[in-house]
Amino acid sequence: MRTLIKHVLAATEPQAAVTVKGWVRTRRDSKGFSFLELNDGSCLASLQVVVDAGAPGAEHLPRLNTGASAVIEGKLVASPAAGQKWEMRASRVELIGTAEGAYPLQKKGHTAEFLRTIAHLRPRSNLYGGVFRVRSRLAFAVHQFFQQRDFVYVHTPIITASDCEGAGEMFRVTTLKGNIDEKPEADFFGKRAYLTVSGQLEGETFACALSNIYTFGPTFRAENSNTARHAAEFWMIEPEMAFCDLQGDMDLGEEFIKAMARYALENCAEDLALFGKFVDKGLLERLQFVVNRPFVRASYAEAVEILKKSGRKFEFPVDYGQNLQSEHERFLTEEHFKSPVTVFNYPREIKPFYMRLNDDGKTVTAMDVLVPGIGEVIGGAQREERLDQLLENMKFHKLDPEDYSWYLDLRRYGTVPHAGFGLGFERLLMFLTGVSNIRDVIPFARTPGNAEF
Ligand code: 4AD
Ligand code: MG
Repeated sequence: MRTLIKHVLAATEPQAAVTVKGWVRTRRDSKGFSFLELNDGSCLASLQVVVDAGAPGAEHLPRLNTGASAVIEGKLVASPAAGQKWEMRASRVELIGTAEGAYPLQKKGHTAEFLRTIAHLRPRSNLYGGVFRVRSRLAFAVHQFFQQRDFVYVHTPIITASDCEGAGEMFRVTTLKGNIDEKPEADFFGKRAYLTVSGQLEGETFACALSNIYTFGPTFRAENSNTARHAAEFWMIEPEMAFCDLQGDMDLGEEFIKAMARYALENCAEDLALFGKFVDKGLLERLQFVVNRPFVRASYAEAVEILKKSGRKFEFPVDYGQNLQSEHERFLTEEHFKSPVTVFNYPREIKPFYMRLNDDGKTVTAMDVLVPGIGEVIGGAQREERLDQLLENMKFHKLDPEDYSWYLDLRRYGTVPHAGFGLGFERLLMFLTGVSNIRDVIPFARTPGNAEF
């Protein structure tokens, strides 16, 4: 029976017989015995194994290089070495797979760019092992958060015929050859189909029946932006609440981010400590701050005023009616407020058709949550629940109501005020780990010009 190294290291007393399986990080040979550092990815720490030259299987030691895989049986004893509580005394060593030649994962650190090019190596490094353990724990925490609050998990479709954001950034799904626009009705689905940019519209349909729902799944955007915060394939979490307004929506977004930060601090301490040491020195302090302090809230108009008065020279000019650029968002959250900020009530021109028009006739009930180091992590809104106003919004944004008749029906039959948001899971992970490039929190990143592995 194999024991994961994280459980071995958590032992409270010596163990007479344990079996571990993993990959050799390093080997040091001394007179009469060797030291192996064995890692199995179950935790950051490796297990130190002492192998006597006469132990069964010890003849394989010369080939137990960095990267080789092995099974080791032995006993767990208190370690005389500083910095570790336990070490293993091998009674038998078995070499499973060799790693001959120039196995590149050595003690020294490699750059993220280099590791991205080597699929087998990346998850075996300390940093990525940590990132992807945290990613897994946080995915669980997302479900726990919503399930504890009675939200129903809805699997919205990955292939869809409607463009939720109306931004035309969709990947086409087709089985047609040649000119795919000549006869779309001959296509697999009998019409044009795409990979979803958001499950929101379908999510609204279920919220207006089951009350509180959430989605958590892959999302696709054919945005040609080669930045550290954009991926063509990412995961989005989208809660949607019936009988909820913008205030309730902002409250949930804030509570959610706080809960994720708290969960990471409490459940991923070892990995977070590594990130705090090597990736982002201010990480732990920032997460504590996020957990303990209320977020700032500012209307879009206030935010624009602050940016204009900042005296700062931005690459993109700040003007009422323009989208906030990443540099503006980061100024607000990192320098001005020094806190996460929820910006609300944006001009209707720069936001999608589904947002509710405010009484001023000019702004909509949008809200974006901005966090230090990233900018926008959440985009959401109270939805337009009034049929005639929604039709007017669609006209304003030059959309054809025919394409959204099923969505309009929600406003025809038992319409209710409702609200929700989308949170990019990778951006949340960047925020919680301090990792500054979105490619490094995705197991296999898809970005313009790159779909390797
Ligand atoms: O602000 P967005 O576009 O909002 C929506 O899609 C809404 N339909 C969500 C809703 O209300 N249900 O996207 C939401 C979030 C962003 O705040 C960002 O965190 C993330 O999704 N996001 C991306 N993450 C990585 N790469 C990209 N290309 C992203 N585009 C958006
Ligand atoms: Mg947005």
